[in-house]
Order: sequence, then C-alpha cells, then structure tokens
Amino acid sequence: MTTSAASALAQRKELADDPHRPQYHFLPPANWMNDPNGLMQWKGQYHLFYQYNPYSPVHERMHWGHAVSSDLVHWTDLPIALTPTPGRADAGGCWSGCAIDNHGTPTLLYSGVYPQVVCLATSADDLLTWQYYSGNPVIAGPPPELLAGTGGHFRDPFVWKEGNCWYMLMGSKIEGVGGTLLLYRSLDLTTWEYLHPLLVGDASKFQPVWTGEMWECPNFLAFGDQRVLLFSALGAQERDLLYPLYITGAFRDEHFLPLAQGMLVHGGYFYAPQVMHDDQGRYIMWGWLKEGRRNSLLEEAGWAGVMSLPIIVAPLPGGRLSLEPVPELTMLREKHWRYEGIELSRVSNFLLEDSRDDRLEMLAEFEPGQHCEFGVKLRCSPDGQEQTRLVYQSASQQVTIEREQSSANSEVDRGNDSVVIEAGEVLKLHIFLDHSVLEVFVNGCCYLASRIYPECRDSLGLELFARSGTVRVRSLDIWRLASIWNI
Ligand code: FRU
Repeated sequence: MTTSAASALAQRKELADDPHRPQYHFLPPANWMNDPNGLMQWKGQYHLFYQYNPYSPVHERMHWGHAVSSDLVHWTDLPIALTPTPGRADAGGCWSGCAIDNHGTPTLLYSGVYPQVVCLATSADDLLTWQYYSGNPVIAGPPPELLAGTGGHFRDPFVWKEGNCWYMLMGSKIEGVGGTLLLYRSLDLTTWEYLHPLLVGDASKFQPVWTGEMWECPNFLAFGDQRVLLFSALGAQERDLLYPLYITGAFRDEHFLPLAQGMLVHGGYFYAPQVMHDDQGRYIMWGWLKEGRRNSLLEEAGWAGVMSLPIIVAPLPGGRLSLEPVPELTMLREKHWRYEGIELSRVSNFLLEDSRDDRLEMLAEFEPGQHCEFGVKLRCSPDGQEQTRLVYQSASQQVTIEREQSSANSEVDRGNDSVVIEAGEVLKLHIFLDHSVLEVFVNGCCYLASRIYPECRDSLGLELFARSGTVRVRSLDIWRLASIWNI
C-alpha cells in the first residue's frame, strides 16, 4: 500500500465510529469536501475527483481529491490530484472543473483562483499525477466587455466536443440581470474564443422558480438531438447556495433553444452536480450533499460533505427527467425482508421491528385511497421523541420530509421540505438511508436528498403509518446495506 493510501485509511478508521458518518456513500478520508469534479471513465475504471480541503472541515484552499472505482460502489483513495501552488494561476485554490480525453491524453480544465481563471493540466500516468500546463491560464478571466458585470465570477469549465471543435461553458453572472453560462470555442484546448452567453437568467422572476444571481457548475448532456443543461444557482450572497436546475432543449448553430425547465433535485442539500458519460453510454450524476449543522459541529466531527449516490439521468417525454440510482448499488444488499398487501390506517400502523437500522434501502409501492396521508417513519427512538417522517398527502400530491423531530439537538437543521409530484395509481418510494443521509426517489423521476442527525444511538426504528384515510401497501422490500469501506 502506498503511504498516501495508508494514511487515508488511518484517517477513515479514526472517524469510522461517528454515528453520523455515512457508510455506503463516498466521502473523503477526513475534512472538507464539496463538488464532484473531473468525472471520467478511463481504461474501464471510474475516476471521481472532488473539491477537497485536506487540512480541516471548512471550505478553504481547495485541492482536488481523487478516488477510483471499478464498480461505481467501492472506492479506493488515490493521492491528491491538484494542489494550489504559489506563483501559479491556481495559487488561491483549485476550484471545480471537468475531465476530457484529448485524443488519448487525460486532460483537466479547472478553475484557478484568485482571480477566477481557467487552467489546464494533463496526465501521462493514467490520471495518477497531473502536469500543470506552462501556458496557464488558458482563459485569463471573463471577456473584457462583460468583466464589470460578472464581478469576476467566472468558474467551473465544462468542456465537450462537437465535430472538430471543443466547446466550453463557464459559470458566471451579469450584474442586475441574473446568472449566465458563457460559451467558448477552441480547436486545441489552449486557445479559446469567446462566442456569446449560451443562456442568461432573469433574477427578477420568481416563478416557476427563482434562478438566482449567479450560475455555477454547468453540464451539457446530449441525448441524440435533445440536450439537457444542468447548472447550480447561487443567491444574492457569495455562499448562498440555492439548488441545481435543469433545462431541456436543442443546440443549433452554437445557440441553445430551451424547451422545459425544472428543479433537478429537491430537499435543499444536493448541489453542484457533475455528470459522467460512461462506457455503457449512461449519463451518471453525482452531487455534493451539504451538511445541515453548524461549523462548530463540523470542527468537532472532523469531516464535512458527502457525495450523493451515483444516479442515472435520462430525458422523459414532456421535458421531465428520469433520475434513478445505478443498478450496481444492488450489490450492497445484505439481509432482505419482503411484505405484501399491508393495509394502513390511523389505527393500524406497521412497525418493522426486525429491520431497525440506520443503513437501509427500502422500496415501497403504495396504493393511496381518497384523501389520505401516509408514509414512512425512519430513525425513530424507542420513545418516539426522535423520528424523521417521509409523508405523502394525496390532496396536495406532496411528498414531504418532516424533520422537526429528526434530532434532539437544536443546533442541526430540522426544517421540512416538500415537492409536488405527478400522482398516479401507485406511489413508488425508493429510499436510501445511510446514517445522516436520506435520499428518496419518487416514481423514478423525482429525487429528494436530505440530512438528519439523530442524537440517540438507538434511533433506528422504522414504521409505516397512515395519519388519515387508508392506504394499501402493495409491496415493501427492505434491505440492510453493506458498508463500502473495508475498515
Ligand atoms: C460550487 C462551487 C463552485 C466552485 C467550488 C469551489 O459549490 O462554489 O462554483 O468552483 O464550489 O469550491
């Protein structure tokens, strides 16, 4: 084992007993992580880079951490890929960016700070070490005519190829107008020509959703002729992270023709996703799951930030997206329980005594009656004081994560978050619980991610309930999931 792998393992061991630390989601050995970066499959192996502060659980002096997987589930830590270096354009930090295969040369394009510029690095040893390009920065900042309006916000290059040309999108803003994504073109990845904004937001519009003041972390996916643009919206303040958005449309003559727009992920904790195109032709997305607790608690814990599960993104008719966890995750399934035909009402809840746990996958199909309200309670303490509820209300067609009782600790987030779904005859909830991480896939197209921090070690209870009306549970599968770390 290399020294860096051994020290990563030692750090992981030290934190392994933390009851809030997820066991089957990727997260770094210790300290701070935010965005996924530079996702790429190289010689069959999945490479995940990430925004990383290896020194403390706060966002500062960002490096690129690196891990590799052959199955999308189990990860091996590799040495840090990019380190901010005095005298270079990334002296203040190596911020987010992407990876591409340039005719056999793995190449990273990333944000150097400060000021915010685009840097390039290449690898000659299968992504293990990276050589900083001597002509950096390859783009020294926003186009001069836009500079004042961007306030210098210019980051997160996303690069793709069309014919012989490379294109790049840069996250930015236009003061007094809204977020924007700036489009560039190049033939060699080092000389870039600014074309025009691919899209400009309108920060004065609050419906159907506020798109914020600045856009970060673009991704542009191609499904035949159809395109899907993803980006993350920032609010009025520098670290006022809002949510990831998507817009479907077409790309013609270097212009984007938007069709439909929506919130990519609900729940308030998933941000800055990046998508990889794998050898099987799948678009696989990861996002950063933020923490929901104060900095002092992060300092105490010694770590912050988790990667979401890997999720397959595909377009659906009507401008919606299908979001489903990758099937590879089924390899984590251990003990299994299955139930069918359970009737729930206010007087008959269904307590799942055997499967009490904080590391579970659940797949439930409900047949809602008229005017009913029902759901799943997770992480319940024996006295019921702590519990998190996932609730569906048929009248409003809303799925809500109710967290007001999720923790006895008042210093952690305990707000609720709801999403309106398209109701059908069956409501399918696919739930992943991993200590402080809760991810829910509703009917294969709506995805919520949240964080919960129960105080009581025994808050492991699980229950199905109805609080008004009746509902039939057609089927319920529960699996206890294995840890992905061999520690
Ligand atoms: C998104 C982001 C990116 C930036 C990175 C810095 O969370 O703000 O725009 O490159 O984080 O860590």
